[in-house]
Amino acid sequence: MSKAIGIDTIRAALGRVKYPGYAADIVTLGMLEDVSATPEGNVGVTLRQATENEDVLRQVAQQIHHVLSHELGLDRVELKARRLEPELGEKTGRVHLEGTRHVIAVASGKGGVGKSTVAANIAVALRQLGFSVGLLDADIYGPSMAMMFGTGDARPKAADKTRFHPVEQYGIRLISMAFFLTDKAPVIWRGPMVMSAVRQFLKETVWGMQDFLVVDLPPGTGDAQLTLAQQVALDGAIIVTTPQDVAVLDAVRAIKMFHQVHCPILGIVENMSVFVCPDCGEEEEIFGRGGGERMASEEGARLLGRIPIYGEIRESGDRGMPIVLANPGHPASKAFIEIARQIAGQMPD
Ligand SMILES: Nc1ncnc2c1ncn2[C@@H]1O[C@H](COP(=O)(O)OP(=O)(O)O)[C@@H](O)[C@H]1O
Ligand SMILES: [Mg+2]
Repeated sequence: MSKAIGIDTIRAALGRVKYPGYAADIVTLGMLEDVSATPEGNVGVTLRQATENEDVLRQVAQQIHHVLSHELGLDRVELKARRLEPELGEKTGRVHLEGTRHVIAVASGKGGVGKSTVAANIAVALRQLGFSVGLLDADIYGPSMAMMFGTGDARPKAADKTRFHPVEQYGIRLISMAFFLTDKAPVIWRGPMVMSAVRQFLKETVWGMQDFLVVDLPPGTGDAQLTLAQQVALDGAIIVTTPQDVAVLDAVRAIKMFHQVHCPILGIVENMSVFVCPDCGEEEEIFGRGGGERMASEEGARLLGRIPIYGEIRESGDRGMPIVLANPGHPASKAFIEIARQIAGQMPD
């Protein structure tokens, strides 16, 4: 190597290392703790290790070595990972939100079952029933609420040195990782840590007084979901499933997870239950039959409702206005309102 390569160049190259499975890079996600370089071309990179998943760590390490050696010609790279003290979970205690009366989580055993769609519509439905509502998108790696609520370029505004105001849309207070993964993010948010982002969302958002905070949890029943469920003082969980057997099995796992953290199950929403032919009105059971019902009775949980497959549900989600708002007279909207009514009815005063 003839010329020393500066730290900024190295940082910029590391900014092209994507976190496995996600669109965001390791710098944006705050994983990069330190970079050093000597004139001789010895580079030291220290990462904050936010996962125990060795596969993920190996992939990150490979990518780092790849960009540094192929793009910058740096071969003497010492990579260190600093294990984070678990910031989440029992150790730090639960986050209790002053001013929020009920915190409810929307969860699912697997992704793609319509969890975020259900969370968004329940939030809007609760609002329509006259409650004040916040919505926390805790799906750090796959945030969808900015899209579902069509918030465009809106960003949380700083309230003071560490706190920020949620983005308000359709009368709902929103916080989502999507607001922070851009260059328009408020400066008070420096390198959000994957592991503590949700905790920060909870604590550092100026929620004000509200009846409900709906939390859209990431899909799955792994450690991340468990720690999240533990650290948010939840009043109840709603489990979303499709009628398929596999989805139901995953949902049963999700129910067991909430039992483990002593969080009551408010009920099950069976999504994509049937396809109603827009022309003839005939119902077709695309994803199988009765899964939600069966699970509800086996697990002693109530079936809050069944939402059929409607093109309009997806279209309104993509357009940035949940169907409950976009078309309140739609059968799906009525079903969501009914689900919201049942949820509200189960809350202690
Ligand atoms: N009942 C439904 N009918 C039609 N499309 C739906 C329905 N529920 C969800 N979708 C669509 O399916 C996709 C996945 O839904 P989403 O809520 O993002 O799932 P998850 O949060 O579980 O990954 C989205 O495009 C959404 O609009
Ligand atoms: Mg989602």
